[in-house]
Amino acid sequence: MNDFTYHVPTKFVFGRGSVDEVGDELSALGHTCALVVYGQGSVVRTGTLDRVLTSLDRTGVRHAQLGGVRPNPEVGLVRDGVAAARADEADVVLAVGGGSVIDSAKAIAMGAATGRDPWEFASTGTRPDKTLPVATVLTLAASGSETSNSCVLTNEETKEKRGITSETNRPRISFLDPENTYTVSKFQTGCGIVDIMMHTLERYLTPEGGESDLTDRIAEGLLIAVRDAGRRAIADPRDYEARATLMWAGSVSHNDYTGCGRKRLFPVHKLEHELSAFRDEIAHGAGLSVLFPAWAEHEMPYDYPRFAQFANRVLGVEMDFEHPERTAREGIRTLRRFFEEIGMPTHLSQLGIKPENYEKLAANTVRTVNGPVKSYSPLDEKAIIEIYRLAE
Ligand code: NZQ
Ligand code: ZN
Repeated sequence: MNDFTYHVPTKFVFGRGSVDEVGDELSALGHTCALVVYGQGSVVRTGTLDRVLTSLDRTGVRHAQLGGVRPNPEVGLVRDGVAAARADEADVVLAVGGGSVIDSAKAIAMGAATGRDPWEFASTGTRPDKTLPVATVLTLAASGSETSNSCVLTNEETKEKRGITSETNRPRISFLDPENTYTVSKFQTGCGIVDIMMHTLERYLTPEGGESDLTDRIAEGLLIAVRDAGRRAIADPRDYEARATLMWAGSVSHNDYTGCGRKRLFPVHKLEHELSAFRDEIAHGAGLSVLFPAWAEHEMPYDYPRFAQFANRVLGVEMDFEHPERTAREGIRTLRRFFEEIGMPTHLSQLGIKPENYEKLAANTVRTVNGPVKSYSPLDEKAIIEIYRLAE
């Protein structure tokens, strides 16, 4: 097990009706004015936004609003948010929505506190030394942004999508009511299932972990629970226990708990961000479900036993001790079938990505990360194109 520091300061208020406690909790934390950020209208239609505003009004927390965040959130709207937060002297940025809304709130918070353009952090790799506190009311179990240290932004002018990773990004408080996710479509539920699994798998399938039995078992337990709850939530969107499992798993999966003692590289995420930057209608989870099995096929020869362990313990594939490569391959086939069963794409053509796009996408990926993508083997442009071909 590698050395690590684990510090997750986010307070979670989990369960039915937690959304009605937003005002009390923010007020108890000393906040008096919130900038409420939301997306394209789902929270208006479901009544979640109204409940949040009512709770703020009841407890005397002033508020301004910024709606309109799009999936794969753009820095243009974030800049409007920075201006609004400063004009209203907001002392907390409250996100009501999924990962795109939360990431916008995080970027607004860092821009408002530092006076710098948030894209500067994304493009230069510098980190903010301070930020406004962020609170979240989560409506979609997927990104883990409600507790993670990252924030992913798209520059709509340059078509770049980049992450800002900083401990200052972790929200102060997150309200998780599984009932708020009943209205999430089957497709977005599927995207969330894939993303949650990937946040743990990208910590589990990494060359720099050494032995980590406890962390492995925690990761494997999460993956099994998410697979089973995922099937139930797709079959019955109002299955409370399934939605609750997905929601809590989404947070735990991306706040480093399932990767303690292992180094995180996240190569598949790096490949995916380039796809959703290229075509912003590609949902993050859909891009991952296409790329992960292909990446795994490409990289498993570097560590067949670990891929076989995943196949055996998580997916129930019988272990072939003499030929672990067979177990490993069967595991990835099984996972791909699971993604298809929950309605996720597994081919680049389903995302509208064509072979003539490969060279540009691979070049963009390498440029964004300043060199080959770190993985079991360094993924240069040629290797990335090989992965695209496995995902065709
Ligand atoms: O915009 P609205 O109308 O709210 O609709 C959204 C959006 O269309 C809808 N939705 C959300 N809650 C709903 C709902 N529809 C019905 N009922 C509800 N309760 O779902 C759609 C997708 O929302 P979005 O926030 O884009 O999805 P997600 O949570 O998957 O976030 C994706 C973004 O997060 C980034 C991704 O790259 C992508 O930009 N990520 C952020 C991470 C982080 N900050 O830690 C880590 C992730 O790996 C990821 O990269
Ligand atoms: Zn992700």
